[in-house]
Amino acid sequence: MKTTFLNASGGEPTSHTPVWFMRQAGRSLPEYRELRLAGSIVESLCQPEIAAEITMQPIRRYGVDAAILYSDIMVPLIAIGAGVEMVSGKGPVVAEPYRDIHQLKRLRAFEPEEDTGFVLETIEILVKELDVPLIGFAGAPFTLASYLIEGGPSRNYAWGKAAMYLEDEPFFQALLDKLTDIVIASLKSQIEAGVSAIQLFDSWVGVLSAYDYEKYVLPHTQKIFQSLAHYNIPLIHFGVGTSHLLHLMGDSGATVLGIDWRVPLSEARKLVPNVAALQGNLDPTLCLAEWSQVEKGVLKVLEESQGDFGHIFNLGHGVLPETNPDILKAIVELVHSQTAK
Ligand code: CP3
Repeated sequence: MKTTFLNASGGEPTSHTPVWFMRQAGRSLPEYRELRLAGSIVESLCQPEIAAEITMQPIRRYGVDAAILYSDIMVPLIAIGAGVEMVSGKGPVVAEPYRDIHQLKRLRAFEPEEDTGFVLETIEILVKELDVPLIGFAGAPFTLASYLIEGGPSRNYAWGKAAMYLEDEPFFQALLDKLTDIVIASLKSQIEAGVSAIQLFDSWVGVLSAYDYEKYVLPHTQKIFQSLAHYNIPLIHFGVGTSHLLHLMGDSGATVLGIDWRVPLSEARKLVPNVAALQGNLDPTLCLAEWSQVEKGVLKVLEESQGDFGHIFNLGHGVLPETNPDILKAIVELVHSQTAK
């Protein structure tokens, strides 16, 4: 197996800087749109052969150094019948949002083998087929809670509501406790099925103050990473708009920190001296620009990644659906050629 991604994750020297893209599976690939079944994304991701094929499409097309499982952060919640639906073009929708402690009985325990056997089967197919490491993932409790509390895809609102519910502390804590258990069960099952690394997405946590993050969220994240530490695989943690939280996220037990495009990697490093590697951080909107601009952006990221840490090249958030696949392919080639030793 090609190991540049794993070596860089451990902060070890590599023959070139590895690259992968958040949301590389699906989105802008025409071969994805062809294969994807009608209906919501759930129809496609619960068919192991199809989900495995969609996972592999970007590996063939872009030559990236890692694969990310084609699934979604809401899958465990959908599978336990928590009342979440994936609506095409919109994202997760919860018809009856979670607003008080009495509703938490709707969140039953998650049994990965029974509830999401299709995910584990997809991983088993991929581990046989892939020649690059496979990354499994989960949504972090705060980000999952934001969807459950708000109920709809209006993200700005979700943040406001979630922050508001911090005032109903028993409800909020009980919700995060339940979600933490679900996340741990999900990630353990993916690791035991064969993924080589995991990423915990706390996409919306940047809306919290450092004080609230440390008090309400960090202990749950630490519990998740502590329960996975013995597997000795890269544990990646990522959020958006988290400049003010990086020093705390660096203490979460993650071994790799994903950085969005707002902070230069050299600055991020000063805030998180303990992690082995940084992942990121080209602005995804830059991929819509002329190649000369993209090239400048890529070279800047590579310049900022010099230092005492491993670097996994990625975007600062997910691939935008409008992105031209040829630009992503050219980025992979540029990073590889610029960093070849
Ligand atoms: O390529 C990959 O990264 C692997 C697969 C993956 C998907 N979702 C597939 C998907 C991953 C890692 C996710 C994570 C995810 N899902 C996050 C965290 C990462 C991030 O970007 O911040 C979040 C917040 C979600 C929730 C979600 N799922 C939303 C908001 C949406 C709709 C809006 C959008 O961006 O398209 C989804 C739907 C979804 N998940 C699609 C895909 C490929 C949409 C395309 C489709 O319906 O075919």
